Amino acid sequence: MGKYPAQPGDGAEMTLTLGIETSCDETSVAVVEDGRRVLSNVIHSQVDLHREFGGVVPELAARDHLERLPHLLDMALEKAGVKTDDLDLLAVTRGPGLVGCLLVGVGVGEGLAAAWSKPLTGVNHLWGHIYAAMLTRPDLEPPLLGLVVSGAHSDLVRMPAHGRFQVIGRTRDDAAGEAFDKAARMLGLGFPGGPALDRLARHGDPTRQPLPRPSLPGLEYSFSGLKTALLYRLRDVGEAVSDQDRADLAASFEQSVVESLLEKLDSALDAHPVAEVVVAGGVAANSLLRRRAGEVVGNRARLTMPSLELCTDNAAMIAAAGFYGGRYPADVDPSLSW
Ligand code: KG4
Ligand code: ZN
Repeated sequence: MGKYPAQPGDGAEMTLTLGIETSCDETSVAVVEDGRRVLSNVIHSQVDLHREFGGVVPELAARDHLERLPHLLDMALEKAGVKTDDLDLLAVTRGPGLVGCLLVGVGVGEGLAAAWSKPLTGVNHLWGHIYAAMLTRPDLEPPLLGLVVSGAHSDLVRMPAHGRFQVIGRTRDDAAGEAFDKAARMLGLGFPGGPALDRLARHGDPTRQPLPRPSLPGLEYSFSGLKTALLYRLRDVGEAVSDQDRADLAASFEQSVVESLLEKLDSALDAHPVAEVVVAGGVAANSLLRRRAGEVVGNRARLTMPSLELCTDNAAMIAAAGFYGGRYPADVDPSLSW
């Protein structure tokens, strides 16, 4: 058995953390060694369950998490080649997220921790998105500047040290992922919207149907005006909208969101110079954002974006954040902030 708590980098015996993530519509269990090496990261996406409703149905999501967790747990342990006795720490998402979904994860985590006599820590899901970058680049250390873009957040944060975060910018209304999902629905792309809009935008030309670029002072974001602009444009074109129009509008919408995200990241980096920058969260899977982020950061800092699988919700990032972030009670907090 390893020892806990281990200090990162102190050469102590290896530490194994079991992560559990159920905050929204991905059920995931992972085993991570020393907070950095992913031994297993089993993810079940509920997209097929929610597709016919055009969005996540909280009650269905919670029930599905509960049904699938036992099997995913067995799979994660088996893939990692680890027995329950080898585990040193259990880490479970305590928020933010859907209350019923969080309750399932925390309930299971508490039950396992009691049955196996292991310590349990509650993890902030937002911290997890930043820690995903440290799984992709194991030598990455704070201080860093982070941009977390997900279904519910568009946050610029400073991370001076492990487990310490300071928000310096956020959205006034819609989050970037939410904006992509709503735009995708308007364009008839169904659920989940972000990845579908990303694919359609590749066939479009953003200069043919330009949309306004949001611009607020300071480090604040706003995407609801852009969403309304798209709605009006689609209304103006009406029935005559062609496939090419839709692709052009998708490209234009994507460009506005991405350039707006990066404009503020650029200003934040000027105002708070630092050697490491992380762009993470589900929207960090967007192909234009991945391409443009490196150009905007340039040689001012080193940019790390998690690998695609680690951008969207997963339990490996929760295990990593649980290992490094300090111990917290596993009490559910659906509106937990940084
Ligand atoms: O981080 P995440 O998996 O869940 C939350 O914590 O919210 O992020 C999900 C969000 C959704 O809004 C989804 O549409 C968006 O990330 N997303 C994308 C792409 N892949 C996922 N948005 C744009 N382009 C993508 N390729
Ligand atoms: Zn997330």
